[in-house]
Amino acid sequence: MSSTPSTPPWDVRRLPRADGSVFLVTGGNAGIGYFVAEQLSVTGATVVLGSRNPAKAEAATAAIRSRVPGARVRAVRLDLADLPSLGTAVESLDVEHLDAVVHNAGVALDDPPRRETGDGHEIMFGTNHLGHFALTHWLLPLLSAAPAARIVTVGSFAAKSERLDLDDLQSRKDYRPKRTYGRSKLAQMYFGLELDRRLRAVDSPVASVVVHPGGALDSLTPSRPPVQVRTAGARLCGAPAALLVQGKHAGAWPAVRAVLEPTVRGGQLWGPRVFGLRGKPQREPVWNHLADTSVAARLWDASCDLTGVDLGAIP
Ligand SMILES: NC(=O)c1ccc[n+]([C@@H]2O[C@H](COP(=O)([O-])OP(=O)(O)OC[C@H]3O[C@@H](n4cnc5c(N)ncnc54)[C@H](OP(=O)(O)O)[C@@H]3O)[C@@H](O)[C@H]2O)c1
Repeated sequence: MSSTPSTPPWDVRRLPRADGSVFLVTGGNAGIGYFVAEQLSVTGATVVLGSRNPAKAEAATAAIRSRVPGARVRAVRLDLADLPSLGTAVESLDVEHLDAVVHNAGVALDDPPRRETGDGHEIMFGTNHLGHFALTHWLLPLLSAAPAARIVTVGSFAAKSERLDLDDLQSRKDYRPKRTYGRSKLAQMYFGLELDRRLRAVDSPVASVVVHPGGALDSLTPSRPPVQVRTAGARLCGAPAALLVQGKHAGAWPAVRAVLEPTVRGGQLWGPRVFGLRGKPQREPVWNHLADTSVAARLWDASCDLTGVDLGAIP
């Protein structure tokens, strides 16, 4: 009797080695980004945390080193809300090539008033989308110097029910924090997919993949003191939510898989298996509205104007 060889299911405890690779994780000092960095560190790669807060970055690198013997982890100062600083931040990486960047950092406000970055952009759109858009411009030469680099953009399930208002990208006319957040994540996802189309058009070795973490709560996340501490009370109160969502350690999995798995391709969307909210990462069909290339192209042009970077000149 012949047996069909089958691939074992993806398991974060069986990641491939990536010695010699260099990965950058924005917002790697906390939350999902911390766990992306911790999990990638296990592969032997050099992992750089992009963080706006040196003390938090130091705590995160120490926490990773304490859990991953021999971890090659360090941090650079990176503030996505400060667009003019991003070129210097990339220089401070001090690497010859970059094998992947995870565009993870994000800000989500729950309440008004509308806030702006120092550059005068609405803070969620400005940080989550424009910050990563401009950062990509500065990173592309390093990514292009790697044999097959990946840009992994962390979107959100919250973007599924949103639509962009191209005439009010900065939510000046209509500011509702949850909507503005969802739209900023949607903009990131449009960007990730449009970027891949543009990279393919110039036969670039770089691929752009979009992922989303599902729902990821601190109360379901294991402790990593002092980065993340879960009390017994929080654990108890949070337990019922585990039926629907997951912890930030599991929210990291789609990004980790998108960075490492050889079969992942540019232009794909990956998210958690169970209702897109929890579980192991799997490939999803690209959501219908995300496939609208005319919206993506208009957003691209607007993002070039707003950031002042010319991502049209992809090397
Ligand atoms: N948690 C969820 O359920 C969920 C669901 C869908 C999508 N997401 C997405 O997943 C990503 C991570 O979420 P999370 O839950 O882990 O959030 P989090 O715990 O609040 O962590 C956010 C990270 O982003 C960093 N950050 C914020 N503004 C920044 C800036 N201007 N420059 C550089 N870094 C900045 C934060 O740095 P500081 O520590 O300095 O604040 C922190 O490291 C976000 O993109 C979020 O939109 C999360």
